[in-house]
Parts: sequence; C-alpha cells; structure tokens
Amino acid sequence: MSDSICLANARLVLADRIVTGSVTIEDGIITEITEGDHIPIGATDCKGDYLMPGLVELHTDNLERHIEPRPSVDWPHRPAILAHDAELASTGITTVFDALRVGSIHDGKARYNAYARGLANELLEVRAAGHLRISHFLHLRAEICSETLLEEMAAFGPDDRVGIVSLMDHTPGQRQFRDVSALKTYVAKKRGMNDADFEVHVENLKALQRKYGVQHEVGAVAEANRYGATLCSHDDTTAEQVAQSRENGVRFAEFPTTLEAAEACHANGIAVMMGAPNIIRGGSHSGNVSALELARAGVLDIVSSDYVPSALLLSVFRLDEVWDDLPRAVACVTRNPASAAGLVDRGVVATGLRGDVIRVGLAQGAPLLRGVWSRGARVG
Ligand SMILES: [Fe+2]
Repeated sequence: MSDSICLANARLVLADRIVTGSVTIEDGIITEITEGDHIPIGATDCKGDYLMPGLVELHTDNLERHIEPRPSVDWPHRPAILAHDAELASTGITTVFDALRVGSIHDGKARYNAYARGLANELLEVRAAGHLRISHFLHLRAEICSETLLEEMAAFGPDDRVGIVSLMDHTPGQRQFRDVSALKTYVAKKRGMNDADFEVHVENLKALQRKYGVQHEVGAVAEANRYGATLCSHDDTTAEQVAQSRENGVRFAEFPTTLEAAEACHANGIAVMMGAPNIIRGGSHSGNVSALELARAGVLDIVSSDYVPSALLLSVFRLDEVWDDLPRAVACVTRNPASAAGLVDRGVVATGLRGDVIRVGLAQGAPLLRGVWSRGARVG
C-alpha cells in the first residue's frame, strides 16, 4: 500500500502564480495538483494558508553552532547533528547544505583545527541510518588563507555528497573585511585578542595569502570539479574579482559586498545570494551592501539563512513587500537555490518532484509555520 497525503484548500505558491488548490503526495513524490477549494475525504484542510515548496538552504553555519555552542566547547556530535536537523525542519528548511570549513591555521589565538572530514563522516553515518528529518548535503568552505586546505580537501571524494564548494578569502583589508576595524570587532572579541594579538593575527593572514593564495585557489577549483560540486564565490567586491570567479566556473556568488559586484555577477551569468539576516536587519553586520538594496536593483536571486535559520522564511515576506510578487520572493529560497546547486528534483510545487512542502499562515502580518513535510512525511 502506498503512503499518500492530500493537503487541500491551500493557496498554492506555484512557480509563477498563486492558486487555491490541493496537492497530493504519494510515496514521497507530488503526484497531483488540483485547483479549487474542494476538500477530499481524508485530506487536510489548510484553511487558505499558503502551501509552498520546502526551503532550500545553501549556506548555514548552524551545524557548527551546535557542535561548538561556546568557544572551545566540543558538544557530543551525534546529538548536535540531530538537534541541528530538527531545528532546521522547525523553520521550514527541507534541504540544507551544511557548511564545514576546510583549511586550518595552527598558530596563535586564531587557531582553527581541522574538523570537516570527521564531522562529515558522523553526519553521513546518521543520514545513512535514516535518522535525519530533512535532506542534507555538504558545503565545503575552502578557506584560501590557511595552511592545510588542499590536504583537507584531498580527503573528500565524489561519494561524500559535497554539493557546493565556496572559495573564501578572508584576508584583512579586502572583500568582507575591507574595513579592518569590522574584522577587529568580529574576531578580537570572539577570540579574546588584545591590540597586539590582533596585529599579529592580521600579519599572519596576509602572509598566508602571499604564500598560498594562488595555489589554493587553483587547487580548490580542481577539487570541486573532482567531487562534481557546484562552485561558488564568496564576498566578491569588484568587477575584477567577479571576472576571476567566472573564469573559475562559479555558478553563484555568496554575499557580494557591493552593488558593483552584484551587477557584474548578473552580467556574467552568476546568480547572487545574500543573507536573510541582512534583509531582516536592513543591512549587513560587517558594513557591506544591503541585501534590500540589491533586491530593489533587481540583482538578488537567492537568500540564505546564514547564521539565523528562522530568518529564511521571514525574509520571503520582507522581499514580497519590496517586489509585491510572492512567487518571486519564494523562488529566492526554493527554486533558485535548488537550481544553482544543480538539484532538479525539488524547489517547485509540481508533479513528479519531491514532496517537500510547507504550510504557512499569516498572523499579524508575520509568517506562522503550520506544517513541514519532507518527501511527504511530516517533520515539523
Ligand atoms: Fe565572508
């Protein structure tokens, strides 16, 4: 007997319009979409709530936050993975690319130890056991200014579900940290550095870029191709950097820091991703371009929850206020990220695709998540 559910009398957010109707999911796949407010026997009455695709999250630090809830606290990994998975499900995310840093730094107060391979093994084991509620892939954040990038990347292969590799260069004085004082606020506080420590830290990072920058960038691109992963850029700031990203084969750009870079991305066929917290707060925490400004300029394609999972759904309704086009806003957290990451089986409410859907009501103008289904199973 097949597993079947029907969600009826919903406002279905389809790719280009909103219609009242019902969705039937059988054995995890959407098999039927019917227009009208008819509620078949046994169906769930959605009472006019929105039914939209499950959210697709390409870049979240949330797993790291569960693994290290306080600086230097290594929380037991298996319960941390399960709590992370459940938290995302509770915010409407049904597909996630868990960001793991590759590239360590061994010296000083800004020490980063290698952890990605071990944590990936644990995540993949929990997944293989069938214990995860939502669909997980890996996103390797390749930190160019590090000592061990390529040896850490060599430990991954095509069978590891690495869907995305991002090229990150956080050298002080450029990109995200053009304003070195913003870096100081961010890192000195987090790592307990005084002024002298911070100066040493900045010089160390600049030296790493001189020593490894070119070699690591070329190597990380080759590794992404070996995995079959989508490549993305990070914090591109100038048209020259975007041209280099295009040369590398980048499909989407994470958090371009200027309007100039975002426009250059579009001119080069590169999708633009910005953070939902930036949208909700009305600006970037590191002083870079406002995501809403890019939305108004028509150069925003993908939104990521970044460091606040629940911000993703909130951002949809904020973007709807800007564009007055809910399907377009929803596409930024569903169809567009799925397509940028090469996933063709999800991201739209359509027959033949995965039964990943969420039911969303509105209460005092704010979204209220009333149900989350992953491959037709209720997960939130
Ligand atoms: Fe960054």
